[in-house]
Amino acid sequence: MHIGILTGGGDCPGLNAAIRAIIRKGTFHYNDTFVGFLEGWKGVLENRTQKLTLENARGILPVGGTILRTSRTNPAKQSDGLTRCRLNLEANGIDALIAIGGDDTLGVAYKLYELGVSVIGVPKTIDNDLAGTDYCFGFDTAVGIAAEAIGRLHSTAEAHNRVFVVEVMGRDAGWIALYAGMAGGADVILVPEEPFNIETVVNVIQSRVKRGSYFSIVVVAEGARPADPVHGSGIVAGIERDEFGHARLGGIGEQVALEIGKRTKIDTRATVLGHIQRGGTPSAFDRVLATRYGIGAIDMAHRGEFGCMTALRANRFIAIPLCEVAGKNRTLGLDELEALRGINP
Ligand code: F6P
Repeated sequence: MHIGILTGGGDCPGLNAAIRAIIRKGTFHYNDTFVGFLEGWKGVLENRTQKLTLENARGILPVGGTILRTSRTNPAKQSDGLTRCRLNLEANGIDALIAIGGDDTLGVAYKLYELGVSVIGVPKTIDNDLAGTDYCFGFDTAVGIAAEAIGRLHSTAEAHNRVFVVEVMGRDAGWIALYAGMAGGADVILVPEEPFNIETVVNVIQSRVKRGSYFSIVVVAEGARPADPVHGSGIVAGIERDEFGHARLGGIGEQVALEIGKRTKIDTRATVLGHIQRGGTPSAFDRVLATRYGIGAIDMAHRGEFGCMTALRANRFIAIPLCEVAGKNRTLGLDELEALRGINP
């Protein structure tokens, strides 16, 4: 088969590991040939490609980012965009297209599948909020980075009797905030799923002071918002939106820190971890997960399981229809929210 590969949306650690696994299994076991489309759907729209061989895959397993580069281009925003994609795929003689991405990228994949393109999805995002799979690669690395940062902030917070508010990524779901907050021993964790009351946060900090702990760590997901209806619409960093309609989030950490400082009179600082969570080498877990997804995707292509995404459910790799993924978000479930309530005072 002649297979196309693309990586779309925000980058994350493990993309190169997935590309490498697809090329290796496809070359060694099926005699496939490969072409990469550059910068996600942009490369398909503009027919910008790169031949992919075992040579390109050499040494990329531990490397962050993506050798194919990425973008948030949405072909469906252009009147003939999806048709142009289909025609360019045909012109390149593509038998199957493997799209590695999150909800936005796989939403476009599903639209193209409905237009007759033989497409297969691979789930990635540090936010871990893709429907249908237990874990997306990139998430474990991001949690490791954030947990380490929280640990480091602990010692300086304690030394100075300060409160640190750590803003982590997580647009619609609090997976990174919950896992990194748990692993790093945060005193309060604020997630998009549960609008928060600043008074409750302040009470936690003040009662810690009464117990002799003069410092606190608050972890807040970028998409968290106050329950207060006036300020409850979420904090955005700018008014511009990307081609999928997402606003750029950012600023909730600073706002929470300001409120805490005002109300407690304790020196309170905000730290925004931002894209540090997305950069650099993948964890061993993400390398394995991305590799298994890559192997799963190429096997699916040869079984003709198009319009599907490789997924991990209860430790088993399976294929699920893209219609179960596209346009859906996986926020924290009841179990996770119960765990969150268990550790949040
Ligand atoms: O990929 C998901 C994500 O990391 C979100 O958590 C975050 O809101 C967004 O990407 C940031 O995207 P960009 O790098 O395009 O600003």
